[in-house]
Amino acid sequence: MTTSVGIHDLSFATTEFVLPHTELAAHTGVDIGKYHIGIGQRSMSIPALDEDIVTMAATAAAPIVERWGADRIRTVVLATETSIDQSKAAGIYVHSLLNLPPSTRVVELKQACYAGTAGLQFAMGLVHRDPTQQVLVIATDVSRYDLDSAGESTQGAAAVAMLVSADPALIRIEPQSGLHTSDVMDFWRPNYRSTALVAGQESISAYLQALEGVWKDYTEQGGRPLPEFAAFCYHQPFTKMATKAHRHLFNTTGHDLDEDQMTAMLRLTTAYNEVLGNSYTASMYLALASLLDHAGDLTDQPIAFASYGSGCVAEFFGGTVVPGYLEHLRTDGHQAVVERRRSIDHHTYRTLHGRSLPEDGGHHLTPKQTTGPFRFAGLSGHKRLYEHS
Ligand code: COA
Repeated sequence: MTTSVGIHDLSFATTEFVLPHTELAAHTGVDIGKYHIGIGQRSMSIPALDEDIVTMAATAAAPIVERWGADRIRTVVLATETSIDQSKAAGIYVHSLLNLPPSTRVVELKQACYAGTAGLQFAMGLVHRDPTQQVLVIATDVSRYDLDSAGESTQGAAAVAMLVSADPALIRIEPQSGLHTSDVMDFWRPNYRSTALVAGQESISAYLQALEGVWKDYTEQGGRPLPEFAAFCYHQPFTKMATKAHRHLFNTTGHDLDEDQMTAMLRLTTAYNEVLGNSYTASMYLALASLLDHAGDLTDQPIAFASYGSGCVAEFFGGTVVPGYLEHLRTDGHQAVVERRRSIDHHTYRTLHGRSLPEDGGHHLTPKQTTGPFRFAGLSGHKRLYEHS
């Protein structure tokens, strides 16, 4: 008997603050059309001093644990490229904040923006092995580039939590996957840097080449024909990238593309990313959240996923929307998460951006800024302190 496995629930969280691109443009002198149309971004989430990948991850996952309980969760996989420790998995702090049972394995995954997909696929394997178990997969990141750099307008932050389960309530993930790995230096962050380095145009090219690679492999693995998919969720370092990717995929595979239809379909997947900004590992799953929350009834429709992580690793796979999924959506909650953010001015943004943590091992408490349920309370003896707000 084949067990259907996939995404049972999905919930996202973001930060306390938001910087509108109009505010950034007023200070960079860049024409707002470049941000709004050229890269397709309207605002970006900025963490408060007492927020980080752990607080966002716990906030995203808490409603899932509240709805389904934690009895069947035996694994927590946290994917991030904003790691807070070279050794300890950030998911252990999340496990603690959410009071998950001790009989759980917790691990952290890294491969740029791709690692959330690795987490999902590894979770699928665990659930296939024992369909009574569930896996909590969390993709959580803060995207940071240097001030006044080309990447600055494509920052952002968010966490997406997904419960992977047998007989999923939202999306059945299909077994065929197209894979692609190649050694390129399009985006990276050496251990001694808190901001990423990116070669923007090379990264766009590497993404598009990887997309060709995953599509070729997906086809060879017996995947669906391209026109069968009702919607496409792309990794979106900036939302215009979804358009570039979609056009490239159709053009290079010899498929006709109706531009109006493409724009209407992709718009459904970009609503959250264009106001939250880049969230690295979480970005493609925010595209899925946006699609489910904004499209009409997608029951039984096949959805394509194109995941890309610089460096680079990419994966293309399909999923089918499960009957009854509409009852499980969190559209109002997600809208509230987006709208509750407080707008900040350019000066405040630059001050927050310049934050760095003390390295002397002393007792340093973080000022209370977040109004979210969890906070990063500070550092003491080189140990991070977290608490419920
Ligand atoms: N109105 C409308 N569009 C405008 C415009 C205006 N006034 N001014 C410029 N544009 C368009 C450009 O034509 C271009 O569109 P195109 O890509 O379709 O040709 C787009 O805006 C961006 O302009 P560009 O000159 O390429 O911008 P940039 O040098 O500032 O770089 C990024 C933009 C996205 C490459 C850069 O912000 C970046 O590298 N971000 C990081 C991306 C990332 O994270 N990659 C790694 C993970 S995949």
